[in-house]
Amino acid sequence: MAAGETAPRQGRMKQSVKMIVGNWKMNGLGADLATTVADLLHDLHLEPQQCRVGICPPATLIDRLARDVRTSHIEVGGQDCRVEAKGAFTGGVSAEMLVDAGARLVILGHSERRQEFGESDALVSDKVGAALRAGLTPIICVGETLAQREAGEAASVVRGQVLGSLNDDLAGKDWALAYEPVWAIGTGLTPTLEQISEIHAAARAAMIERLGDGGGAAPILYGGSVNPGNARDILAVDEVGGALVGGASLKAADFLAIIRAAQPASVAAG
Ligand code: PGA
Repeated sequence: MAAGETAPRQGRMKQSVKMIVGNWKMNGLGADLATTVADLLHDLHLEPQQCRVGICPPATLIDRLARDVRTSHIEVGGQDCRVEAKGAFTGGVSAEMLVDAGARLVILGHSERRQEFGESDALVSDKVGAALRAGLTPIICVGETLAQREAGEAASVVRGQVLGSLNDDLAGKDWALAYEPVWAIGTGLTPTLEQISEIHAAARAAMIERLGDGGGAAPILYGGSVNPGNARDILAVDEVGGALVGGASLKAADFLAIIRAAQPASVAAG
């Protein structure tokens, strides 16, 4: 599908079209495309495009996945990119390379990268610039640790990360923020709906503080232990524009259930 051809974009139907993105992390071999993705495509096939769906597999599978989903509305993404377009950076993958492999999205600043690789807000901001330069849709992750939440700092931490991780070039572009409390990732724990609402509101205010009106349109995804049992309630929270899904995106039935929870009731029932 050509860029902008039929997928619902932010700005259009902003209130109703949710964005559901699977983050496979370092999981997935070629054989999984023949099972998980084939099952997903089989069941998604007949559904109208009332939900924006993305899958971010490991870099090794982007090319194959992009081929497999080329006739669907599923968008493929990377999980990180370097700032540089090319060069002597052994093991690195650039935004241009992700596009070349068939990606349209890229997750940036995931807490696993912030923690394990020491990625700073400033580096994430530079990566956002690189992603935009290559024509990718960045999904920029922020979120507090348990210690920060317990210290009452969740909203201020997220505000700081938003102010530091965004990039002026985002204004008018297609992008998303993802609020992922670190303590909720892969733990089965989730914030209350009130806590999600509070932080999404704080994130929105910071996006507008950073980008002006340009910070008002991008969806804010929630991520952290989203599953078929909690997706509908979370997705109904004010300012929750979708979900970034880790573990549950590895099972076609679970990911599909989350996608259905994101669709208008009349579509999901059909
Ligand atoms: P989880 O991961 O859904 O397994 O908690 C979410 C993420 O890290 O993006």
